[in-house]
Amino acid sequence: MLMGRSKQTASKTRVVVLTADADFEESVKATFSAGAQIDLTVVTGTMPEVAETLDVEGATVVVIDLDAGRADEMQALQSFVSRIGTRPPVVVVTQTFDADAARTLIQMRVADFLVKPVPPLELVRACARVAKTPASDESKEAKIYTFLPAVGGAGVTTLAIQTALLLLNSGTKGPASTCLVDLNFQQGACADYLDLEPRLNPSEIEPSPERLDRQLLEVMLSYHASGLAVVAAPNRPAEMRSFNPDVVTRLLDLVSTHFDYVVFDMPRTWFSWTDSVLLGSNNLFIVSEATVPGLRHAKQLVAAIDERLGDGPQPKVIVNRFEQKMFSSGLRRCDVEQVLGASFVSGIPNDYALVREAIDRGVPLDSVKPGNKITTQLKKLIASQAITPAVSSAMPLTKKLKLSLAR
Ligand SMILES: Nc1ncnc2c1ncn2[C@@H]1O[C@H](COP(=O)(O)OP(=O)(O)OP(=O)(O)O)[C@@H](O)[C@H]1O
Ligand SMILES: [Mg+2]
Repeated sequence: MLMGRSKQTASKTRVVVLTADADFEESVKATFSAGAQIDLTVVTGTMPEVAETLDVEGATVVVIDLDAGRADEMQALQSFVSRIGTRPPVVVVTQTFDADAARTLIQMRVADFLVKPVPPLELVRACARVAKTPASDESKEAKIYTFLPAVGGAGVTTLAIQTALLLLNSGTKGPASTCLVDLNFQQGACADYLDLEPRLNPSEIEPSPERLDRQLLEVMLSYHASGLAVVAAPNRPAEMRSFNPDVVTRLLDLVSTHFDYVVFDMPRTWFSWTDSVLLGSNNLFIVSEATVPGLRHAKQLVAAIDERLGDGPQPKVIVNRFEQKMFSSGLRRCDVEQVLGASFVSGIPNDYALVREAIDRGVPLDSVKPGNKITTQLKKLIASQAITPAVSSAMPLTKKLKLSLAR
């Protein structure tokens, strides 16, 4: 079965090709034998025959020739890529091809795919390109803003969205890459408020969270016209959903290494992954309302987070829909300050008509009414918090938290 395999040398580029097509084999040999720096190994056979045994140790690139229209070949490819992990990169050459096949190949995170007939130069280019790409571009580290509810309906989603849009537009050289993540998997509203199709399907990632990489993430992102990236799952109101914490942690890791800013819209329920999100945050906002129970819950939540996270980020309370009327019977600023003490950072004005119109049209508040009071107040708050040094830094979340992903 093994043909033309020469000794592996560190300085050479080792290309392993699997094919059962004599013509393709001929063409590959002619193409790669021209380069003295290429150590070519051609394995004759099909993916189902060799998925468990194909030796790619030390290979720079693996080229797999198959028919993406055949379920057995795709299944074998799936088990092969699961076995080898992210390196070496895999280039698939396929006989037949359609949109479903493309989606499946992207989800398997193969590095590239080409459709036969493949011009030799195209194959060389594809191999050179994927060999050069580092395993992952984990150079960025996002500033993470997390919004937590003290009570239901306080305005977490509204404020998370507006903050994400402010951060997006805070870049000095064009928009800063910003991702809004709706962690209310059961009944999220971010996608609806922005009029987007939610594309996150956690059950697709569930079997092997470590497979979630930039390419797969890209498939699961929705983009707002402003350029804001949104991670949100479709609502399934009648389903009891609980997600593997590894999926959530992996997702957080990816977004925090690929965007400048990440904003989390958190659910009220405390999940097993909640601590990780809070610990990885640079700014933690509890959103409440100016009612006695609202302030009480906010105070309890501040105390609970302080106790759980110790030296982690200090939670700050935002009182939303805050009205300061002279003769109103509602709570006044001094009442709020008295209950919340130093954790109270901002009162966001009440403007129901404005928020409702923005939600109904799926647009930012500023598009409905430029310079409105809500956005202005939020901008002030974000600017004042930006000088707070990040508590945790320079590492992806999993490393920061020493969390290990299930392999
Ligand atoms: N500053 C505001 N002024 C007036 N109305 C507001 C304001 N912020 C939010 N609202 C309104 O409050 C309601 C709840 O807002 P939102 O959905 O953002 O809250 P939430 O905390 O995410 O709710 P849930 O608990 O359902 O997730 C919406 O109808 C929204 O229009
Ligand atoms: Mg919400």
